[in-house]
Amino acid sequence: MTELTAQKQTTLDQIGAATTLDALEEQRVAALGKKGWVSLALKTLGSMSPDERKEVAPAIQAVRGEVAAAIDAKKGELESAALEAQLASETIDLTLPAPDMAKGSVHPVSQVMDELAEIFADLGFAVATGPEIEDDWHNFTALNMDESHPARAMHDTFYFPDAAADGGNPASSSEAVGQKRMLLRTHTSPVQIRSMKEQGAPIRIIAPGRVYRSDSDATHTPMFHQVEGLVIDRDIHLGHLKWTLETFFKAFFEREDITLRLRPSYFPFTEPSVEFDVGYANEGDRRVVGGHGDAPGHDWMELGGSGMVNRRVLEFAGVDPDEYQGFAFGLGIDRIAMLKYGMNDLRAFFDGDPRWLSHYGFSPYDQPTLSAGVGARP
Ligand code: DAH
Repeated sequence: MTELTAQKQTTLDQIGAATTLDALEEQRVAALGKKGWVSLALKTLGSMSPDERKEVAPAIQAVRGEVAAAIDAKKGELESAALEAQLASETIDLTLPAPDMAKGSVHPVSQVMDELAEIFADLGFAVATGPEIEDDWHNFTALNMDESHPARAMHDTFYFPDAAADGGNPASSSEAVGQKRMLLRTHTSPVQIRSMKEQGAPIRIIAPGRVYRSDSDATHTPMFHQVEGLVIDRDIHLGHLKWTLETFFKAFFEREDITLRLRPSYFPFTEPSVEFDVGYANEGDRRVVGGHGDAPGHDWMELGGSGMVNRRVLEFAGVDPDEYQGFAFGLGIDRIAMLKYGMNDLRAFFDGDPRWLSHYGFSPYDQPTLSAGVGARP
């Protein structure tokens, strides 16, 4: 019995001193394992007299209980210490600065193009595109501007070098030859021709995109943006044109008091042709669209050109002008973007200055929708 008590004390001391779960397990096996000293002591009970056994058995069981309890307690202690250590090593310091991620923004021109598409889609227009590297025939001839047409001179066209090598005799009134002479499109109007040739009539499209002219000052850049509109059907008239433009500008500028003025004009591809002006007021150094242009403190600002598509153009595009007619319009996207978002220098649009972009740019999450308002601010 004394031997058992001594052994128990040694074991309890070693359990107390264990610093790892492995060391503790060793103690458990040595005492309580099949060949452990407690198990061996229990086996001696079989060879004892009943009286002796009655006395010794509870003592051994008590030792066994004490050792087992000590192991359990130590095990709990070591496990929670291990957990604490793990937690301490896995902390995240939330006060550290966020990683420096690239921040992008949507250019106001792209934003306005999305707004245009959203508004016109609601009016049943599809978005059409055409190449920026265009041929002479689509850019001019098919729009009723043959080689001798004076309107061509006003376009300050960038021609490709091989066109000059052509010897100045493009004979572009023929589609096959005219298509060979390449240029950077000077307006989005050639998309009218391409769309009609592809889809025929009736048709209802807008065509936003880049256009190029050899022209550069405070209000002109060699590359700028236009949007073309085209509606061809059996009974389209100028009234439809005016309503469409008015409805568009009301949605775009998000105000009801938009007044449009149509003025007689001339374009080779429309007959009759009109230019459209919108009423505005000066507020400080900013022009604010709205109101009647003849009202006190107001004036008219030209926004674009339009008219009923010339029957010659319909013929060039393969549409029967005796069956179909319609209107077209073209306007500068950069111009209406400046008006809506209060930017006053066109050149800054294309400088790529990150300060300008972070000021005037839009969040990529700020998709224009008619339901949420097409003009959400950055
Ligand atoms: N293409 C013309 C330009 O760039 C703008 C224009 C005027 C387009 C009248 C049209 C239109 O569709 O009908 O100056």
